[in-house]
Amino acid sequence: MEGAGVRLRRSIATQTLDYIDPFLLFDHFGSDNPNDYLAGFPMHPHRGIETVTYMLSGHVDHKDSIGNSGTIGKGDIQWMTSGSGILHEEMPKEPEEGIMEGFQLWINLPARLKMTTPRYRGVESSNIPKLEREDGKVIKIIAGEYEGVKGAVTDIYADPSYLDIYLPAGSSIELSIEQGHTAVAYIFEGKGIFGDFKLDSPETGTEVEATKMIIFGDGDTVKVFANKKPAKFLLISGKPLNEPVARYGPFVMNTDEEIEQAIHDLQNNTFVK
Ligand code: FE2
Repeated sequence: MEGAGVRLRRSIATQTLDYIDPFLLFDHFGSDNPNDYLAGFPMHPHRGIETVTYMLSGHVDHKDSIGNSGTIGKGDIQWMTSGSGILHEEMPKEPEEGIMEGFQLWINLPARLKMTTPRYRGVESSNIPKLEREDGKVIKIIAGEYEGVKGAVTDIYADPSYLDIYLPAGSSIELSIEQGHTAVAYIFEGKGIFGDFKLDSPETGTEVEATKMIIFGDGDTVKVFANKKPAKFLLISGKPLNEPVARYGPFVMNTDEEIEQAIHDLQNNTFVK
């Protein structure tokens, strides 16, 4: 349960996985029961991070302390740089075909940008590059680059790659990852074989069924094969910052003193600069 009572699946920022540099949190919210999400995320602060919200289904109303408000819907993305401090609210409203579903990823800001000016951007689904292959594969490029095509979100400071991939049954994909970068996949529908396997004998890999996060070791490629069922998954990667992490709820800074300062600023109405 998060916010005012939203049921979600959390894979990063849990008791067993605090963070995986530079990613600080990953949530998958998805339900056909309005009681699981209508309470939403009323006005709350953030400092020191960037967030990317990607909707699969349904609509979320939002507004923030830097004057943005609106609704994001199916396939839309919003990203927010909290920097020195932002207050915002995110309220799931209308489901689509009965379903409210999406993802939120928190990406760390480097120490020198923790207190940068807050900013907010939205991208409608029609502006997200989508590659449709003859064999039925679909690759949506949310951030980063795939086969020379640049993603919709280009100025997240940690410069992550974020792809939404659909593999029909019987198809496979090989994706390059920069050596030394953190790489995770999140399978949200179907099942896929992930990891180090030979494309002509995929049974040597590990089959993973939705919903799960897969964390890859270091290397320069990721292979995925959808066997008898299609696979829908996200592939997210990014360069670790290798800086100290001090976190408390919606604040992620480098030191405990900076966390105390954030709490102090919030209590003294000096949080929004
Ligand atoms: Fe938030």
